[in-house]
Amino acid sequence: MVQGTEKYTVITGASSGIGYEAAKAFAERGKNLIITARRKNNLKMLKREILEKRPDLDIVIRSTDLSVPENAHQFYEGLRGYEIETWINNAGFGNYDSVADQDLGKIGAMLHLNIEALTILSSLFVRDYKDVEGTQLINVSSAGGYTIVPTAVTYCAAKFYVSTFTEGLAWELKKTGAKMKAKVLAPAATKTEFGMVANNVSEYDYDKSFGTYHTGEQMAGFLLELYDSEKVVGLVDRESFSFLLADPLFPYAGNSSHNQQRM
Ligand SMILES: NC(=O)c1ccc[n+]([C@@H]2O[C@H](COP(=O)([O-])OP(=O)(O)OC[C@H]3O[C@@H](n4cnc5c(N)ncnc54)[C@H](OP(=O)(O)O)[C@@H]3O)[C@@H](O)[C@H]2O)c1
Repeated sequence: MVQGTEKYTVITGASSGIGYEAAKAFAERGKNLIITARRKNNLKMLKREILEKRPDLDIVIRSTDLSVPENAHQFYEGLRGYEIETWINNAGFGNYDSVADQDLGKIGAMLHLNIEALTILSSLFVRDYKDVEGTQLINVSSAGGYTIVPTAVTYCAAKFYVSTFTEGLAWELKKTGAKMKAKVLAPAATKTEFGMVANNVSEYDYDKSFGTYHTGEQMAGFLLELYDSEKVVGLVDRESFSFLLADPLFPYAGNSSHNQQRM
């Protein structure tokens, strides 16, 4: 960690969808950005778009495949020269299929990205910055990280991991008096490239597939609401489609005398 005046917001999966819009929203707040994804051209386009409005900002591009765990370590280590204020683990994808029929190559990459990279990057960020005032870690889960969706069991299980890991971390930070806040964003259907990737198709009609959905821009607005709040969870209710800010939702055994203690 360097001591400087310039602070940065890291956004993974910024080449499209929620991450792309979140980058623009944080830039409008005057935040310098470190944006990453595999598609460098999209990141360059995003950088140009942001700098047209905010030429005063520093926008750093890093292109990497985070489904390779070693790349997650290298990505983090490569940012040692920057002082990071906010880290948003947004990169992720889904898959619609039965467990019996699912493509295990795609599922393996999904678990590496949605779970492993998120865990590596969260842990390294917390290790370095947990005692720095004003720091936040926001992990993007899903409404499917709180409810099992029948056609997406493995994706939901991975997002349950994201929700419980991040809620548990939020408790841990609170109990140890750390300064960092950890939060979970749980979007429901949002019009991005998610539908195409999850369904292995090159075009996907959100109007045909969903009665209601949010746009990426709306979701970035919700992300900022969560960022501004003292709550841990920002959740889209799957029935009403309203955005709710909440305390952690999973049961927590933190005060039980039956808990195993670290020796
Ligand atoms: N859209 C929804 O309905 C919805 C609902 C609930 C939760 N979410 C969650 O929201 C997050 C953002 O998704 P989105 O809806 O914005 O979808 P999206 O438009 O497909 O964006 C996904 C982002 O993740 C990046 N990514 C994918 N594979 C990657 C890899 N191997 N390495 C590095 N980056 C990778 C993509 O960039 P590259 O392809 O350039 O690498 C892209 O920037 C995901 O975690 C998703 O699970 C979405």
